[in-house]
Amino acid sequence: MMSSFVSIAIDGPAAAGKSTVAKIVAKKLGYVYIDTGAMYRAFTYAVIKAGLDPKNEEQACSLVGKVSIELTEDGCVLCNGEDVSKPIRGNEVSSNVSYIASYKTIRLELIKLQRELASHQNVVMDGRDIGSYVLPDAQVKVFQVASVETRAKRRYDENLAKGIQTSLEEVAENVRQRDYIDSHRDFDPLVKDKDAIELDTSNLNIEESAAAVLEIVAKKLGEKQ
Ligand code: CDP
Repeated sequence: MMSSFVSIAIDGPAAAGKSTVAKIVAKKLGYVYIDTGAMYRAFTYAVIKAGLDPKNEEQACSLVGKVSIELTEDGCVLCNGEDVSKPIRGNEVSSNVSYIASYKTIRLELIKLQRELASHQNVVMDGRDIGSYVLPDAQVKVFQVASVETRAKRRYDENLAKGIQTSLEEVAENVRQRDYIDSHRDFDPLVKDKDAIELDTSNLNIEESAAAVLEIVAKKLGEKQ
């Protein structure tokens, strides 16, 4: 059954600027922004905090059903009630999250939560598999890309602004590594859905990228009426 709520899916590779654009689009439309990457990051944080090995599937999956993840209205990420908004952006989580996101049991648990959130409100949801798997009926699907160089530079600047210590080379390596793992995992990999509209933001700034997505949204929602 088609839900009466609108879902906008924004997928794409690491650090393509999806969350920045998704937040602007959600605000403009009065929709709720759902950062699914933050959920995988929070789960990764919980695994590390419990002293378990993120590269060990059995150990990591032993926390399924025991981690509560919440995205608050003011943009914070809570993991078992603790505000983890800052540590989930650090190097330790960034270099382990794609292993955690490759485990089917963990994915299925987080996907259940994502679908539940989209079932009762209008959402802009960003991630890797939103249009292809989580919300296949999403009215609008955007696949946002940019060159590796652009993406690494953007994330490096973002980290600097947040006070996260990294080098440009380290960030570029992390972006390449996550893209590889995310597109090669067996279950639910990063792929461009057949219905998705590709948007290359290599030469667009934030405002231009958001305007381009809003244009796609207006066109798609206009077609449906
Ligand atoms: O912001 P950035 O593009 O760096 O990544 P993110 O959206 O915070 O996602 C972090 C990681 O979570 C990704 O590299 C994927 O491994 C995983 N992820 C996923 O598998 N599926 C999603 N829907 C969202 C994120």
